[in-house]
Amino acid sequence: MFNNGWRKPSDVMSNYLDRIGAGWILANPEVFNFDYVPDELVGRDDVQNELASKFTTIHSPEGSGRVVITGPVGSGKTTLAQTFCRDIQRHLANKRNIRSVHVNCRNASTSMRVVQRILHELAPGHPDRGLSMGELLMSLRRILRQETSHLIVVLDEVDHMLRLSGDDLLYQLLRIDEDQSGKGTLSLILISQEQVLDVLETAVISRMGSTNHLRVKPYDVEGLAAIATQRAKMGLVPGTWTPEIIRILAEKAVPTGDARRVIELLNAAVERCEFRQDAHNERRLIIDDIHVPLNREPTTTGSNLEHIDDLNPNAMLVLLALCRRLTKQETMTTGDVEQLYAVVCEEYEQKMKSHTTVWKYLKDFEERQIISSRVATITGGRGRTTHLSMPHFLPKDLASRLEMLLKKKF
Ligand SMILES: Nc1ncnc2c1ncn2[C@@H]1O[C@H](COP(=O)(O)OP(=O)(O)O)[C@@H](O)[C@H]1O
Ligand SMILES: [Mg+2]
Repeated sequence: MFNNGWRKPSDVMSNYLDRIGAGWILANPEVFNFDYVPDELVGRDDVQNELASKFTTIHSPEGSGRVVITGPVGSGKTTLAQTFCRDIQRHLANKRNIRSVHVNCRNASTSMRVVQRILHELAPGHPDRGLSMGELLMSLRRILRQETSHLIVVLDEVDHMLRLSGDDLLYQLLRIDEDQSGKGTLSLILISQEQVLDVLETAVISRMGSTNHLRVKPYDVEGLAAIATQRAKMGLVPGTWTPEIIRILAEKAVPTGDARRVIELLNAAVERCEFRQDAHNERRLIIDDIHVPLNREPTTTGSNLEHIDDLNPNAMLVLLALCRRLTKQETMTTGDVEQLYAVVCEEYEQKMKSHTTVWKYLKDFEERQIISSRVATITGGRGRTTHLSMPHFLPKDLASRLEMLLKKKF
């Protein structure tokens, strides 16, 4: 390095760009793109089976299916439909010509716009200006017959269209080849958030057939961890992440149950980790990386440190023990807590509280969402261990606040 403080302008210029594409941690950035569709959905076998069961006749010339998928934001509805359409086309490649069109009705919120989008996807050069709804539908029918293809229409966030244009289009689409002897030219998948369902949509569900209503649940912590693990495996350099780190991200995201959230948190942690890299750094995600304050971070109950100010001083000692270990390590066991608590008591010259009291404090921390716990069975059958972690706080910050508070108490 130069020690006279002078560098060639070109060096200076490129320096701040060195990080870009360096890829110490990030091997495959596109897996974090918002429109990236994973090859496989993880942990959704049950809904995938249920969806497939609505299409059991689709391999035959007259077969078609219809289904309404509802669920909260980030529960994988869009991806479920996308992967289904992709997979069924491959699966039936030799049996039936299947095409699919995915229209997001947030961007095409009238039935007119929706039909235009469908046509545009099927026949990109097709003129649609000035054509009436009836004419557009006729064109659609003609194209499908010419191609002898079966079309799966996915109307995503369909509530937007229903609100502006009602449900007429749905029935027109389902009857699109009514005048033919044959049937089954078109399948329909409707998607909507559960929360925005109103009377209108409830009517639609009942007319689509209430047995064709597929409800998707928000992800639990295991589901979120599995999704983040999949992205980490595909997107990161091997050895730069641990299951423990992933677990904490999943715990941070679980109040929302939103897969998008856990992917964003992982992405943010990776960015932060990439950013702090230099020649001497550990090339892996650490605790500090996952506590990046994101702009869109919802204010959780525990994001401010004053949250702990009313703890009793003995509980504070236990918490300090936890923080000190969790500054260096993602998780710790209850056994670790007692050991380190003993050390802290010595430091503050306090008598240790009993095992049961310490356990009670830990429960209290968990209820206040200061820590989170997970019980795991040890391989080898030595029983079960409780692993503690701190998904909503940076242990280092909490430790300094505790030390400041404890100075006043003792
Ligand atoms: N089971 C899953 N496996 C892998 N990725 C998933 C899974 N579920 C959701 N995702 C990812 O999470 C994000 C949100 O999913 P999305 O299908 O858009 O949810 P929704 O449409 O219900 O709001 C997408 O990036 C998607 O790829
Ligand atoms: Mg969606």
